[in-house]
Amino acid sequence: IEFKIITNNGTHESMKMLIDLKNIFARQLPKMPKEYIVRLVFDRNHESMCIIKDNTKVIGGICYRKYPTQRFAEIAFLAITATLQVKGYGTRLMNKFKEHIQKQDVEYLLTYADNYAIGYFRKQGFYQEIKMQPDRWKGFIKDYDGGTLMECYVHPTIDYGN
Ligand code: ACO
Repeated sequence: IEFKIITNNGTHESMKMLIDLKNIFARQLPKMPKEYIVRLVFDRNHESMCIIKDNTKVIGGICYRKYPTQRFAEIAFLAITATLQVKGYGTRLMNKFKEHIQKQDVEYLLTYADNYAIGYFRKQGFYQEIKMQPDRWKGFIKDYDGGTLMECYVHPTIDYGN
C-alpha cells in the first residue's frame, strides 16, 4: 500500500489515477452529480491523495483544496472502494493526509460530511462545532445543504504517522 498526492499535471499516469479515483467517488457518493465530481477532481486548485495497491491499483482517496492564506483545507470527497471498506484503509488515509497537510502549515480541516459518514469523521477527530473564526472560512467554501459541516484541528507537532 502506498499513499500518493496526485494533481492534474497532464501526465498519463496522473490522469489514469485521477480517472480511477473519480470512478470510486462516483460509485460511492451516488448523491453527488458526476459532472461535479469530475470538475473538482480535475480542477487545478484541487489535489488528491490516492491509496495505491500493487503499484497501480487505486483503491480509494481523498480530494481536497488548500486555502494557504487561511491555513485550512476543505475535503471535497473521500471514499474507499466498496469491497475494501471497514478494513482500516479510511483511517490510514486520514492519518496520512493529516501528516501531509500538517507539513503544509494547514491548521484546520473542514468537510461537509454525508450523514452516513458523520460517525467515521467523528472517529477521525472531526467535530460539528466549528472553532475557526467565521471570517477565516465563510465565503471561501460553498454552502452545501446535503451534509453536515465538520472541522478537525491539525495539531502542528503531533505525529499523525502510522
Ligand atoms: N459510520 C460510522 N462508522 C463508520 C462508518 C460510517 N459510515 N464508516 C466507517 N466507520 C467506522 C468503522 O467501523 C471504524 O470504526 P472502528 O475504528 O471503531 O473499528 C472506523 O469508522 C474507521 O473505519 P475504516 O475501516 O478505517 O473506514 P473505511 O476504510 O471503510 O473508510 C469511508 C471510511 C471512507 C467513509 C468508507 O466507508 C467509504 O468510502 N464510504 C462510502 C463513501 C462515503 O461515505 N464517503 C464519505 C462521504 S463525505 C465526503 O466525501 C466529504
